[in-house]
Amino acid sequence: MACHGRISTSTAQLGLPELRLGIIPGMGGTQRLPRLVGLSKALELMLMSKSINGGEAYALGLVDAIVSPDELVKTARSWALDIVESRRPWIRSLYRTDKLEPLGMAREILNFARDQAQKQAAKLQHPLICIDVIEEGIVSGPLAGLWKELDSSRMLQSSETSKSLVHIFFAQRATSKVPRITDIGLKPRGIHKVAIIGGGLMGSGIATALILSNFLVILKEVNENFLQSGIGRVKANLQGHVKKGKMTQEECGKAISLLIGVHDYEHFKDVDMVIEAVIENVSLKQQIFADLEKYCSPHCILASNTSTIDLNSIGEKTMSQDRIVGAHFFSPAHVMPLLEIVRTQKTSSQVIVDLLGVARKIHKTPIVVGNCTGFAVNRMFFPYSQAAALLVDHGLDVYQIDHAITKFGMPMGPFRLADLVGFEVAVATCTQYLQSFPERCYRSMLIPIMLEDKRTGESSRKGFYVYDGKRKASPDPDIKKYIEKSRSISGVTQSPKCR
Ligand SMILES: NC(=O)c1ccc[n+]([C@@H]2O[C@H](COP(=O)([O-])OP(=O)(O)OC[C@H]3O[C@@H](n4cnc5c(N)ncnc54)[C@H](O)[C@@H]3O)[C@@H](O)[C@H]2O)c1
Repeated sequence: MACHGRISTSTAQLGLPELRLGIIPGMGGTQRLPRLVGLSKALELMLMSKSINGGEAYALGLVDAIVSPDELVKTARSWALDIVESRRPWIRSLYRTDKLEPLGMAREILNFARDQAQKQAAKLQHPLICIDVIEEGIVSGPLAGLWKELDSSRMLQSSETSKSLVHIFFAQRATSKVPRITDIGLKPRGIHKVAIIGGGLMGSGIATALILSNFLVILKEVNENFLQSGIGRVKANLQGHVKKGKMTQEECGKAISLLIGVHDYEHFKDVDMVIEAVIENVSLKQQIFADLEKYCSPHCILASNTSTIDLNSIGEKTMSQDRIVGAHFFSPAHVMPLLEIVRTQKTSSQVIVDLLGVARKIHKTPIVVGNCTGFAVNRMFFPYSQAAALLVDHGLDVYQIDHAITKFGMPMGPFRLADLVGFEVAVATCTQYLQSFPERCYRSMLIPIMLEDKRTGESSRKGFYVYDGKRKASPDPDIKKYIEKSRSISGVTQSPKCR
């Protein structure tokens, strides 16, 4: 941006992604970008660490010409000569003002950006510092902006936030390297056709993620009604993408054509992988895996999306332990970036490498973990949700807890999340923990009591919150009676402060 001109190819990626690492753009980036593309667009690109392609950059004025890759150097050379010999103007972006909004309007834009940044992550300081630095340049001139940028950059580089975000950056890249699995010369086998058993919340989300990446998907349900609901959920997920402008109606139609709904195992003969996503019930899963062994080819990967159940137990009635693996997605499966790949002592390395390949294709971050109750993620998550239930039995308010957690920076609180996950899954999960670690679990009766009254969470539009047709959650005064009952069963003596 400090050059007198910029030439790009149409596909080059351009952006200032520094905020993702807890720092701000340096070397004048905070000052030059607003002067080249205008304040609003510059804020969007910097605060969201968004990259754009050459074509978009040209439309915004970030680059001055688009040429084909083989013309790039030649054109750049001729532009350089033109500039040096004054056939083209010497443009110094730092002193341009034509794209900058008048001061009053600029202040409004900056304040709006501050509000947005705080809403998105209330605890993060560096987005606000970035906005202050940009403002300094606009109010006091570009040189003052450069000095402030330099001071702020130095300070942020040693911040805890930056150290943590840099750690995450490298950790995410390291997840696909698993010692003695990915370093022994194995290559992922071609996986093209995947069957999913169960088209509920998770099955439909997993199906969406797969067809979005061109996998052919067979979706099996118990009957036509359930099947149509499952397919309906996949279509709704895709329409969500269309509405957000992430795909066209035509691409949506193409994706849905990759999905085939079935009621039996006839289509399972030639699938490369099955992902089971039925309710969290050990004997049902055991039966399904025994059936899969009969109907699928001997090379087919047999995966379960179970949240908590020991995979050895799921595969107990089969002779296929080497191809049984956990493929644990998180809700909503077509949105959440994590895929927990669970290996037992017997899961073959090839199967893990294959699943890592699938994760890459569907743009998930894989983590390969060992097999135990709750694996890695729910093993950490369960104590957190238990603590929330314990606090309610001690007298704290459900909505206050959720509010405190979102204010802390999490996207949703534990009770809103329980609604999203669904109470049946929550109770089944809790049962697994109670069996495995009875001495370490707190047995809250709150969710089972609500479930008895046919509250199942967001899917039935009634959980800790009530939901309108647009899935907007509102607190429900009615839940008081369940809380009181749970408290009386728990026998916890409430501290007066908590009431
Ligand atoms: N809900 C979550 O947030 C979440 C997150 C990660 C993992 N999981 C796990 O995913 C699995 C599914 O959970 P869910 O929330 O999607 O449940 P769900 O109740 O929404 O869906 C389960 C579906 O499986 C179908 N089904 C039951 N038996 C079947 C059979 N024999 N053949 C075909 N379909 C059958 C049911 O009709 C239902 O539609 C569970 O093991 C759960 O622990 C859930």
